[in-house]
Parts: sequence; C-alpha cells; structure tokens
Amino acid sequence: MEILQKSFSDSNYFTIIFLHGFPYDSRMWKYQFDLGNVNLAALDLLGAGSKKTERLFSLEAMVDTAFSEIYSLGWKNILLSGLSMGGYVALRMLEKYPSFFRGAIFFDTRSEADSNEAKIKRAQNIKLLLENGVEKFVENFVPQTVAPNALEENPSLKRELLEIAKSQSAEGLASQLLAMQGRTDTTHVLSEISIPSLVVCGELDSITSPESMKNFASKIPNSLFEVVPKAGHMAPIEKPEIVNQIINNFINNLPK
Ligand code: MLT
Repeated sequence: MEILQKSFSDSNYFTIIFLHGFPYDSRMWKYQFDLGNVNLAALDLLGAGSKKTERLFSLEAMVDTAFSEIYSLGWKNILLSGLSMGGYVALRMLEKYPSFFRGAIFFDTRSEADSNEAKIKRAQNIKLLLENGVEKFVENFVPQTVAPNALEENPSLKRELLEIAKSQSAEGLASQLLAMQGRTDTTHVLSEISIPSLVVCGELDSITSPESMKNFASKIPNSLFEVVPKAGHMAPIEKPEIVNQIINNFINNLPK
C-alpha cells in the first residue's frame, strides 16, 4: 500500500485525507503538503497511480478501498477532503460512515448522479481512451480542468498535470469513468452532514461552476463556501497558496 503522507506526533492535530480528481492521482495534492500543524495523507483511488488495475470496479469499490486505507492509518480527528471524483467518493463515504469524520472539505464537485447527457459523454470518453490511448486523451482533457490559458501561462503547471495524467492506464481511467457513470445521487446526504464543512470552488471552473458549488454548500448545515480567484477546476494545484490559506483558516476555527 503506497500512501503519500506526512504526520506529526502531536495527537491533538487534525488529519486531512485527500482524494484526487480524474484523470489524476495523489500527486495532485503535492502543494498541500506545505500545510503545517496538520497530519496529511493523499490516497490513490482505485484505478489510479499505485492502484492502476485492468480489473473493472465500481464507485462503491473505490469507496471501500479508500475507507479501509484510511481506517488502517489509525489516525484520529480526520477531515475528509475530495476534489470532483474524489468528492463523489467522499460523499458516499460520509453516507456510509457518518460518525467517523470530524470535518469535510469539498473541492469543485457535485452530489447529483450523471444526467443522460453526461452518461453518453462518459461512453464517448471510454471509447476514445480505449481506442486512442491515454496520451491523446489527456492532452485533450487536461486543458479543460484548469482556468482558460492557465497551461500557456504556467508551463510548470502544464508539465506537472500532464506528467500525472499521462502516467495513468487506459483501463484504470476507463473503469473510473464507468464507476462515475454508475454512481448514486448523494444530494440527500448534504443536509445530513453535521460536521463542519468547507466548500471550495475555482472562480473559473467550467466543469463545476461556482454557482453550483454555492448551491451545494447551501444544502450543508454547517458549511463555509470559498471561491478561489483565477483558478479553474484544479484549484489546489493551480493556486496552492490561496487554497492552503483557506484550509488553514478553516482548521484554525474548528472546535478542538
Ligand atoms: C474530476 O475532476 O474528477 C472529473 O471532472 C469528475 C467527472 O468527470 O465527473
């Protein structure tokens, strides 16, 4: 089991578990490892990074695999954080294990299941992946996940995102698409989340808009909504300093 982690011995510290978005892996959270005074772990979800596989799996299996890893870490005071696909996994995990976590952080995600249109788009993307391979697929997909012109203006961001995305397998990514296509709607879970929650969205996110994330946050009773200026769907890696500041403020105001 390979988990990117940083931990301190102080048992009063909070722990953040990060769940990545598609088509990336745990390395997308590298700048969040600059956060201090908090234990951190970024997991590879089933199908990505250290968990590439040619076997098919469901979103439920992604949830169960991630939860057993989190449980085996043996840490306390856990805040569960997921971006987009990682958010789908986090929401279902909160539905299954409502009393396990102390807080939640959602980035650029949604609770609704796929519409018919979104299901057809998934099918097209699966076909493209399996026929043309990962490289071609991600070259077209990655620019959609950041703010307009972000890759042109920031060559190191382009290099980092493409390196992570190109290292995935076509089967792993295709299976994640199928898993997302078959996921349940978790909208009813939002109003049942009683732990403090932070909802963050990139101002220029074209996949999950700030309006839709604001609406998502409004359904969670104890939530704080923040917009990251000039960031797209991948706010934590596009604007890490701002995102880390937002996370720090949230943690500093949590009841100990
Ligand atoms: C992601 O960033 O994980 C994807 O946009 C999720 C999705 O395709 O629904």
